[in-house]
Amino acid sequence: MAGLTSSTIGRKYAMALSAMFLLIFLVMHMSTNMTSVFSEDAFNNASHFMGYNPAVQYLLQPVLMIAVIFHFVMGFVLEVKNNKARPVKYANNNGAANSSWMSRNMIISGAVVLAFLALHFYDFYFPEMNYKYIQGNTPDETRYWAELHHKFHDIWRVLLYVVAFVLLGLHLAHGFQSSFQSIGARHPKYTPIIKAFGNWYSILIPLGFIFIAIFHFVTQ
Ligand code: HEM
Repeated sequence: MAGLTSSTIGRKYAMALSAMFLLIFLVMHMSTNMTSVFSEDAFNNASHFMGYNPAVQYLLQPVLMIAVIFHFVMGFVLEVKNNKARPVKYANNNGAANSSWMSRNMIISGAVVLAFLALHFYDFYFPEMNYKYIQGNTPDETRYWAELHHKFHDIWRVLLYVVAFVLLGLHLAHGFQSSFQSIGARHPKYTPIIKAFGNWYSILIPLGFIFIAIFHFVTQ
């Protein structure tokens, strides 16, 4: 692991692997939350399973937390190192002509997603940890949907979430294909397919999250 993070190429590779793991998490997280739109019971069952299954709690969740922290810390490290290596901006770097807004501003969209995660943990994750491990309540399989639904009664929270999901989409629009490039997956035939898939992914996943938030707001 130390070897993987001690060179720029190694760092980009490790960054890409953590990104890919998070891309898979987002599909699972969006699908689980989408059940709340269709069925209260389905969402309650899925949440209860995730919340009390030992493999999810003691294996997947810690790995997810490490991947999230690693991805953000390494993102900032790479940004700082890139800026140090290039103290004077290239004369020919005239913005949009050479690269997209998304690729030049990954650090900004990433920081917005990080700020969103702080709010999101305050909303869901910390209360859940408090409920289970600090208050030590007995499991209640029926509470999850109502808790989720109640969170979205506040228009400001919904708006903040929606803005974060749009920025998440911009982050993914560059990040998806960039993670494949960083692990060396380049091929004249497959790269356009990866890019097209990435574009759809970065539109549909945030749209799914936006739909869930707005659904719970308008059905209060
Ligand atoms: C409308 C959109 C969303 C809803 C309704 C939602 C809902 C939830 C809920 C209910 C939990 C608590 C799970 C538990 O521990 O019992 C949670 C946790 C979490 N969410 Fe979200 N989420 C949304 C969007 C997102 C997005 C866009 C991201 C990432 C950018 C994200 C990342 C996480 C993470 C990392 C956790 C903690 C790990 C976990 O407990 O699974 N969520 N979310």
